[in-house]
Amino acid sequence: MTNKAAPNLSQLVALRDPRSPAAEAYRALRTNIQFSSLDKPLRTILTTSTAPDEGKSTTVANLAITIAQSEQRVILVDCDLRRPTLHTLFGLPNEEGLTSLMLQEGGRVPLQKTEVPGLMVLTSGPLPPRPADILGSRRMEAVIAQLREHADIVLFDTPPVNAVTDAAVLATKVDGVLLVFRAGATRRDRAGEARRLLDKVNANIVGVVLTDVKQEDGYSYYGS
Ligand SMILES: Nc1ncnc2c1ncn2[C@@H]1O[C@H](COP(=O)(O)OP(=O)(O)O)[C@@H](O)[C@H]1O
Ligand SMILES: [Mg+2]
Repeated sequence: MTNKAAPNLSQLVALRDPRSPAAEAYRALRTNIQFSSLDKPLRTILTTSTAPDEGKSTTVANLAITIAQSEQRVILVDCDLRRPTLHTLFGLPNEEGLTSLMLQEGGRVPLQKTEVPGLMVLTSGPLPPRPADILGSRRMEAVIAQLREHADIVLFDTPPVNAVTDAAVLATKVDGVLLVFRAGATRRDRAGEARRLLDKVNANIVGVVLTDVKQEDGYSYYGS
């Protein structure tokens, strides 16, 4: 048994310090997403980026908290089956998770509660040999449909789209894709390449989040 660790509050600023400018930026992101699709609300959204460490997991985790704080039911799924971090961020065990579900049809979904009311997390589970096969499977579609029944919105964390196909494969099964770029770090050509890879599978890119923006620069979010 793993002891339940405390959530990593330093990265979960929407939980730790809801009045901070950073938390306010996540609320602006939430609002922008909600208003970007008034006719057909986005129910399933994934975050990806060009490379590791651009802030995908931090962004999607804080966005999930912020949406739950607006009294919607949110499920956050760790589909980064290469470098999963959501269990660490929320201080949850990861013996069971998304990949365990792939092995048994109709099994219980090992959703875990968090200290945020309305927010449940499905951690990665044990790392599989071929993540893209799992994310591209029929079984994955069934799992997404099942999760949608239990939440108003389902958010998915993924690996960098430029490095492996996982995010592009999953992008075909969700309503929207949020790209995360890091100010001063993400290369322009790589950003263009990410966009091209997602366009190729007809992904619906709903916006770009720019992370690590100095506060005096103003907003950390802008539309695509
Ligand atoms: N908006 C942000 N501003 C500054 N630092 C950030 C921001 N978002 C994430 N980080 C930091 O960047 C590092 C990588 O974040 P992470 O979310 O794990 O990236 P990824 O999932 O893309 O690999 C972490 O140390 C995190 O605290
Ligand atoms: Mg990550």
